[in-house]
Amino acid sequence: MKWIYPLLALSFSSPLWAADTTVAPTSAPEARSEQARDAFVTQLLSKMTLDEKIGQLRLISVGPDNPKQAIREMIRNGQVGAIFNTVTRPDIRAMQDQVMQLSRLKIPLFFAYDVVHGQRTIFPIPLGLAASWDPQAIKTVGRISAYEAADDGLNMTWAPMVDVSHEPRWGRMSEGFGEDTLLTAEMGKAMVESMQGKSPADRYSLMTSVKHFALYGAVEGGQEYNSVDMSPQRMFQEYLPPYKAALDAGSGGVMVALNSVNGVPATADSWLLKDVLRDQWKFKGITISDHGAIKELINHGVASDPRDAVRIAINAGIDMSMSDQYYSQYLPGLVKSGAVSMATIDEATRHVLNVKYDMGLFSNPYSHLGPAQDDPKDTNAESRLHRPQAREVAAETLVLLKNRLGVLPLKKQGTIALIGPLADSKQDIMGSWSAAGVAAQSVTVREGMTQALAGKATLLYAKGSNITDNPLVQKFLNSYGPEVSVDKQSPQQLLDQAVAMARKADVVVAAVGESQGMAHEASSRSDIRIPAAQRRLLTALKATGKPLIIVLMNGRPLDISEQSQQADAILETWFSGTEGGHAIADALFGDTNPSGKLPVSFPRSVGQIPAYYNHLPTGRPYNYLHPDKYTSHYYDAINGPLYPFGYGLSYTTFSVSPVSLSSDQMTQGGHLQASVTVTNTGKRAGATVVQMYLNDPVASLSRPVEELKGFQRISLQPGQSQQVSFKITEDELKFWNPQMKYLAEPGQFNVMIGLDSVRTEKTHFNYQ
Ligand code: NOJ
Repeated sequence: MKWIYPLLALSFSSPLWAADTTVAPTSAPEARSEQARDAFVTQLLSKMTLDEKIGQLRLISVGPDNPKQAIREMIRNGQVGAIFNTVTRPDIRAMQDQVMQLSRLKIPLFFAYDVVHGQRTIFPIPLGLAASWDPQAIKTVGRISAYEAADDGLNMTWAPMVDVSHEPRWGRMSEGFGEDTLLTAEMGKAMVESMQGKSPADRYSLMTSVKHFALYGAVEGGQEYNSVDMSPQRMFQEYLPPYKAALDAGSGGVMVALNSVNGVPATADSWLLKDVLRDQWKFKGITISDHGAIKELINHGVASDPRDAVRIAINAGIDMSMSDQYYSQYLPGLVKSGAVSMATIDEATRHVLNVKYDMGLFSNPYSHLGPAQDDPKDTNAESRLHRPQAREVAAETLVLLKNRLGVLPLKKQGTIALIGPLADSKQDIMGSWSAAGVAAQSVTVREGMTQALAGKATLLYAKGSNITDNPLVQKFLNSYGPEVSVDKQSPQQLLDQAVAMARKADVVVAAVGESQGMAHEASSRSDIRIPAAQRRLLTALKATGKPLIIVLMNGRPLDISEQSQQADAILETWFSGTEGGHAIADALFGDTNPSGKLPVSFPRSVGQIPAYYNHLPTGRPYNYLHPDKYTSHYYDAINGPLYPFGYGLSYTTFSVSPVSLSSDQMTQGGHLQASVTVTNTGKRAGATVVQMYLNDPVASLSRPVEELKGFQRISLQPGQSQQVSFKITEDELKFWNPQMKYLAEPGQFNVMIGLDSVRTEKTHFNYQ
């Protein structure tokens, strides 16, 4: 052990496994072979009692149910495999000390947390990150989040979430990367690669756990925790590829979804967890149940009692049980009775030990901690934040939805009224799952605009309304702690002040939308409009006749049909994180140029959901140029989304040339290039995202009207042109046919390239 860590060698006796380790002191983690790991783990397993093995399968959350003292006791007794919800080095070290000083085998714990879009520095929510369409930006987020989390002593994150979703009613759309398979897969992959780095064992890397496997984003009606029913074709074509991409990128963990899939809860689904995950995809890491999911098998109606639930979960392939007392209570008896085999326990324990090995914990249980004297004096110190990167990334995530007569960017002059309950909210701008982010450190729109205008113009501010005046919604949102406040002044007083202020200004900027908690776990909505109190405010502001700029904050597509008429400009800012206020001010005043593109379609009303772009054709397609009664549409609404997938304006303009193909024929095993020339036809430098879509118009089953198959973000100076090429191979043409074979069928393929999913240049080629 001497080589492990000088302090450790002095303070702790060698664990039983230490003598067996084959890892050389100087070997880089990546140099350790799987073979060496297997040999090491096999030897360690041979020394473990059944109880110690079961202990490794338990993931304990620190919280009111499990105070630190009780947890330390369990740790000493070898009853805990890993901990989550503890985020400071002293706390983590104290727990690891229990293992290293007092437990029999001294098997290190790993420490996990929901580091979803930042740890101390909070970046935009994942849906916003997806709007950047920039894997490099995601990598910046991943690296910094991993760095800050590892610097806090953490080893694992419950991220990325790659649940494709067509459901804006679902509050967790905020945590994913939108409605598209490819975009989600690319973002998830970038997150895994950047968080894990060369090896999760490295000092500043985190191991990832991809979630929620599988299909959580497809819960029926967008109602949280609901069931999913899906054809295998759609599952493998649209929903499963992002999980696979994140696993192929090396993610060490998988978190299993709370929902059922075709009647079988994912936590009980051996087809999903074994046949697909292990046998087909060759996943070697760890599977973790979601919070309390094992006992929920009883509510799902597939387990008769807790013992039954444990039997089903472990036999289905759940290695680690999150926040669940049942594994320790029932596994010993189940093994004794033969209902769970020792081989099953060994296999699950092996997976846990494998990831601990991969995290480098057997080489150095304190690898992400270091000596106590190096601990930050102040965990929330400013110096620990990465503000410039947060501001830059946030800039790329802002989507300009409307800009009538170029009202934006605003000039830094005159009087500007900033109004709205989200204009000065430090908490909300961070978004949900803001990890260890501190609200006091986030920059609000008010603060960002104040700094930008200092000495140049007057900024007036009024709250204007509560986020919501609905007492039931207020009660719900505040049920687990303060979330939305209710102003002491009456709604009418708030409104009157705001209107008076607007009248004094040259232009009104209204920061409106959802509170942080309205777009979170357990936050499904049946009405996806801006809450009524804020709609009323916007209507009153509009009535002043002043130019109205809406700064939207939200974690899902909202129905903004009414506001899209009212507003002169709309800037979609999602929840933009610690530096959000600066990034928004930069965009409003033209110090940056918005370049984000929607990763999800914005429906015109909740009744239009699902309104995703890559839907299948019908036998009676609706044609808005020649509307006909007996076609597929809603007769009481304009058809098609309000803002389509891939859409976003800029302060400059771009043109896209017709598509040129390197050949109009593609043979089996061959490929071709599809190219366009994009020109910045405006007066400002700007970035945009060139998107390539394919369509297979005649196949053995209906194929989507279009599917994203490639994208590139480019930056152009005024007048500058760039050729953008996409390689098309058979992989882009393949799909799961009626017999569940993955293949490309000969015939014509349409190629569409553009700056969103609707306005595209089209051509076609023949594949044989
Ligand atoms: C439940 C959520 O579904 C999951 O995403 C999260 O990682 C865990 N709780 C832990 O906080």
